[in-house]
Amino acid sequence: MSSLLLNLAVASLVASFTAAASNGDFNILSFNVAGLPSILNDNDVPGDKATNAGTIGTLFTKYDYDVIHVQEDFAYHADIYATDDHAYRTATSGTAGVGSGLNTLSNFDWVDFTRVKWATCSDASGDDCLTPKGFTFMRVLLSEGVYVDFYNLHADAGTEADDETARAANLQQVADYIDTWSIGNSVVLYGDTNSRYTRALDGITVFETQNSLTDAWVELENGGVNPTVLTLCDNPSLINTCETVDKVFYRGSKQLSLTGTYFNYESSKFLQSNGSILSDHNPITVNFTWTTSDSLLQSELYGGPHGTWFNDIESIPSSPKTSVITFRGASRLDSVALTLTSGTTFTHGGTGGTSTSLTLESSEYWTSAQLCQGQYNSETRNFYILATTSTGRTLVSGTATSDCTTFTAPTGWQIVGYMGQDGDEIDQLAFIYAPY
Ligand SMILES: *[C@@H]1O[C@H](CO)[C@@H](O)[C@H](O)[C@H]1NC(C)=O
Ligand SMILES: *[C@@H]1O[C@H](CO)[C@@H](O)[C@H](O)[C@H]1NC(C)=O
Repeated sequence: MSSLLLNLAVASLVASFTAAASNGDFNILSFNVAGLPSILNDNDVPGDKATNAGTIGTLFTKYDYDVIHVQEDFAYHADIYATDDHAYRTATSGTAGVGSGLNTLSNFDWVDFTRVKWATCSDASGDDCLTPKGFTFMRVLLSEGVYVDFYNLHADAGTEADDETARAANLQQVADYIDTWSIGNSVVLYGDTNSRYTRALDGITVFETQNSLTDAWVELENGGVNPTVLTLCDNPSLINTCETVDKVFYRGSKQLSLTGTYFNYESSKFLQSNGSILSDHNPITVNFTWTTSDSLLQSELYGGPHGTWFNDIESIPSSPKTSVITFRGASRLDSVALTLTSGTTFTHGGTGGTSTSLTLESSEYWTSAQLCQGQYNSETRNFYILATTSTGRTLVSGTATSDCTTFTAPTGWQIVGYMGQDGDEIDQLAFIYAPY
């Protein structure tokens, strides 16, 4: 544990940024569990689907992958959850015809979970429009102040012209969502893309070209080069050099480096007791290591997941120092802003409320902030902020509630920017820290 990150306890306040881990690891599993009702589709998997689903849940518990994304988790969802013991799991969105079949089983908690339906589907082959497929999004909290945006997806199947059009539109929809909702953030995206690199019309390279994501299989098993020759995997696959349509993509951020260290088809672990398969897809695991930056860190997010995501991290220059803090507020917190000595200004929220500012001395730093949240129109927002500097001066805006927390920069660090979600007020907020 770095002494750099040891937190100053603030009397009578909840110090939310306590000594944080500066590195760690986690692993993921991506698995299409073939959970369509057996009368609709047996997926060429022998045996009873409910029994097989129970076995899948048992194996999730046994191997304890940190964040599991399942697809086609429809009719036998309860059987998987009955034998799985992950602490954090999404509630099902319903069986086939109703839900998307997408769920997450995790050892880590998350915020901002969202289900998004595809704008385009095709029944040219397969019955992709039978059920509202799509993707899911969540900000997973790996450690204090360490978030990664996780996406699960199940794209349109088939290779008829309309399938290709729908699938390319699906992948583009996720790529555009990442551009909006994961600005500045690390991302791990995995699931059933129904895509192959050798089918150009699928557009699977969009995540690399538009979002700067790396395909873990391409990186770790294919020499960093997108395949130009089609290879099919057996099921169970005993080798990792073949390509499946289930894929794992990732990127780090300016505050968190993320490295894929291990890729494996886990198929041999996911078998019935007599050796038959449990699904028509090979499950995939990838191990990751992460390390926080020594120049930028963040607090946890506070408030509600409404409004639009913003993140100043890409625009913070090297050796930043906050010179002016500005807030707007009245009954709630309308806006937060700050100006760096470089002249760069960040402003978020709306123009309501009353403006208040504090200009910092050259040896004075913004070191902690208290936020209070409350309910407005049945949604959570930030109502209040109290900034405190290294010399004990304060700046207040909005109206305090009884639901407050204080974020304090690690010793020797200061607040130099914001991230969160805003509209005409500040819905959700986190602080970006840099050393001084
Ligand atoms: C394994 O058991 C299932 C369920 O009883 C059966 O359908 C399947 O054929 C068996 N597989 C083998 C390889 O015997
Ligand atoms: C992958 O991660 C899991 C869980 O942390 C760990 O048990 C396993 O040893 C790792 N495998 C490799 C090859 O690093």
